Amino acid sequence: MRIESFELERWMTTWETVVSYDLAESGIQPMSVNQLGALTGEQDRIASILDEPLLYSEACGTIQLREIIAGLYENTDPDNVLVTTGAIEANFLLFNTLLVQGDEVIVVDPCYQQLASVPKALGCIVKPWKLTPENGFRYQLDELQILITPRTRMIVINSPHNPSGAILTDEELDRVYAMAESVGAWVLSDEAYRWLSLPDQPKCAGPARDRGDSGLSVGTLSKPFGLPGLRIGWMVAPADVVKECWSFRDYISLSPGYLNDRLAQIVLEHRTTLMERTRSIASGNLALVEQWIREREGLIEWVRPQGGLLGLLRYQMDIPSAELADDLARDASVMLAPGSAFGHEHHLRIGFGAEPERFREGMDVAGNYIERVASERGVRNR
Ligand SMILES: Cc1ncc(COP(=O)(O)O)c(C=O)c1O
Repeated sequence: MRIESFELERWMTTWETVVSYDLAESGIQPMSVNQLGALTGEQDRIASILDEPLLYSEACGTIQLREIIAGLYENTDPDNVLVTTGAIEANFLLFNTLLVQGDEVIVVDPCYQQLASVPKALGCIVKPWKLTPENGFRYQLDELQILITPRTRMIVINSPHNPSGAILTDEELDRVYAMAESVGAWVLSDEAYRWLSLPDQPKCAGPARDRGDSGLSVGTLSKPFGLPGLRIGWMVAPADVVKECWSFRDYISLSPGYLNDRLAQIVLEHRTTLMERTRSIASGNLALVEQWIREREGLIEWVRPQGGLLGLLRYQMDIPSAELADDLARDASVMLAPGSAFGHEHHLRIGFGAEPERFREGMDVAGNYIERVASERGVRNR
């Protein structure tokens, strides 16, 4: 398989180990294992896990973990669950087992690049379902109706959405599902940002899996819990699809990490407590971003995210976003991801999941730097 370079990942790895303020990070402030123990009161259990020999773990995920994950969906058994190396592996396996060359795939655009690049690399015809600033980064159901044909094999959605924070409501997801079913297509729903609702916004749709067997839900501990280093994600799908993906995975990563699987059980058992930490960080930082934008009226604006941890800042300067993002990282030691990585020039993607004090400092530094550039290079008339 030949595949295009993952632009955003290449950019992130250039800067993330050298900058002081990473405001491009897409998840909530990561936790240590000790913090996880303290927040959940499970220090003793974690200590005893650390005493266990590091065997290969059950290849599809331990039955304990798959039972917990199955309980997060309706009408779902452990046989419907495959634990994967992050959501990224779950997506990769689903594309590779369910799609063949020439299949038509509708993919939300912009998107986490994997969602379009892997189907393209498989030789599929990828049709973008566009979210644009002009339509307030909202999923347009009437446009999906135009894109879908009897040859459509899969509709790929992501809600809450990376990079815009758009969501699908329950009613909208029901309509997407009905349209997919009418042509016998799958709905691959990347739910990496599940549970991340935001204040004063409509409720994000429940999992695609809960709609029926054409709904494939992908989840992860990376974004909502601040545990990307655990590399635990999963897919929830019909048992035969899970089996096929599992066979494919034998050639890639074989099984989840032994410790990771056991720590993941603790995380999901204490999901509600851990989500309180996440909500508190995200809502405080979001309020700060809104204030920061208000203070820079005419220079910066955004479509307020409806969910998740990300949004796109639009700046009124004639500077390509890759150049501005590199300058910010090199000269001000702040990372904001270039909109060009998502096909949206004159935008920077911000993540508002960082540790609040650090986030505030980083926003101050970024704000001052952008204002200085604007005073030197001029602000565009709208
Ligand atoms: C929409 C989306 N899906 C999947 C992933 C990959 O997540 P994971 O760390 O679970 O592999 C990301 C990471 O940024 C993402 O934004």
